Amino acid sequence: MGRSKGGAWRTRFGFYVVAIGSACGLGNLWRFPYVLGENGGGAFVLLYVLIAFILGAPLLIGELVLGKSLRESVIPATKTLEKKSQLPLRWAGRFAVLMSIVVLSYYSVIAGWVIHFIVQFALGLFSTKESIADGLSVLMGSGGLQWALTSVHLLIVLVVVGKGVQEGLERWISSIMPLFAILVSVLVYRSLSLPSTPDVLRFLFYPDFSKLTLQSLIHAVGHVLFTLSVGFGTLVTFGSYMRDEDHAPTAGFRVAVVDTLVSLGVGLLVFPIAFQASNTPLTDPGLLFEVLPKFLLEIPGGVIFGLVFFISLYLAALNASIGLFEAIVANFKSIGGRQQSRAAASWQAGGLVLILSLFPSLSSTVFRNWRGGLIENIDSFLVNWLLPISALGLLYAIIKGMGFKSLEENFVDRERPVSEVMFSHWVLLVKWVVPAIILTGLVLQVIGLFL
Ligand code: PHE
Repeated sequence: MGRSKGGAWRTRFGFYVVAIGSACGLGNLWRFPYVLGENGGGAFVLLYVLIAFILGAPLLIGELVLGKSLRESVIPATKTLEKKSQLPLRWAGRFAVLMSIVVLSYYSVIAGWVIHFIVQFALGLFSTKESIADGLSVLMGSGGLQWALTSVHLLIVLVVVGKGVQEGLERWISSIMPLFAILVSVLVYRSLSLPSTPDVLRFLFYPDFSKLTLQSLIHAVGHVLFTLSVGFGTLVTFGSYMRDEDHAPTAGFRVAVVDTLVSLGVGLLVFPIAFQASNTPLTDPGLLFEVLPKFLLEIPGGVIFGLVFFISLYLAALNASIGLFEAIVANFKSIGGRQQSRAAASWQAGGLVLILSLFPSLSSTVFRNWRGGLIENIDSFLVNWLLPISALGLLYAIIKGMGFKSLEENFVDRERPVSEVMFSHWVLLVKWVVPAIILTGLVLQVIGLFL
């Protein structure tokens, strides 16, 4: 079904719901606040928004166009391109899927933490604040509990993805997204009523360029790629399910807009609390899980706020994990050149991710003394080094493998004159601007290592 001509989504919105659901995840709610904190606020927000549109959106569109034109996921698609062009391109697809597997393995551990927080806050409705605090502290001391929660999360993801594109992904995410949107809006409203709001607005929207460092450019690039789910091949799979009549570039651009708005909205939700609690922004990946609960346990209504917050965080993590897992499964279905069933591919991929997730599950116990934390290190190495390289590799495969002539045929829709203008801008960006930004970011990052 997934490969059928004409696409696999049930409704016109199927693509949007799943692509937006997969983009808006822990990247927006957990990662964005601390990356922004680390890089000093306002100036980084500007850089982030700029990079999202001149680099993230064009790459996102490139992956969608590749998937839609070949109707294949990234590994078979890059293989096809390699055969056609006689250039070594298939490594780009394999590398992207490998990245997805590694990301899902620590993403699921964090999703497992969120499940624990939901349970503790829910129990907290009926108990004292001290007992919630005790309950929360149990988690970091038990690698076994973290791994068990990770497997619960993976099992939920596996069940949804096992049901298929329409009955699983589309149906589930369509019901989750509106709930997520409502919950987050309520929380933003409540957060903005905290007295720290003026400081937060100054921090987020008043750019102080002296706060940027040599690493800031690549941090912005990496985060944009991560939050838009670019460089993992996920969007190639989603593109392969698109309907013929849908215009991939327009759809891709819209996904980038929505995801960026959600990130900025989440800044308005998380930072007032962080500022109120400790007078500083979050600058460390673990802080969201420390500062926020501690503060919430002190304010009136905080337990309910916490419960709703962690439920929203979980819904976001779930949608994103479903998207990631679907793409891994779609690639596994054709592994080694033979076709296998969705169920078999799901179990293989799920088993592999579960085994890998053992390491990040032990980050706060066995690997406690790792410099800066295991999860933090995997995350920053993957997002700031490997992901930009993966995105560049995919872009190279798309441009060299398809060629601009065939890209134009797949990009330009004669009934939409604007698509011709879009195409000329897109070519300019992917040919020059995107590679230049990524390479400059990587070079500055290397220089930063020696200073
Ligand atoms: N974009 C997701 C987030 O921001 C992460 C993700 C990456 C999801 C790759 C799917 C594919 O959390």
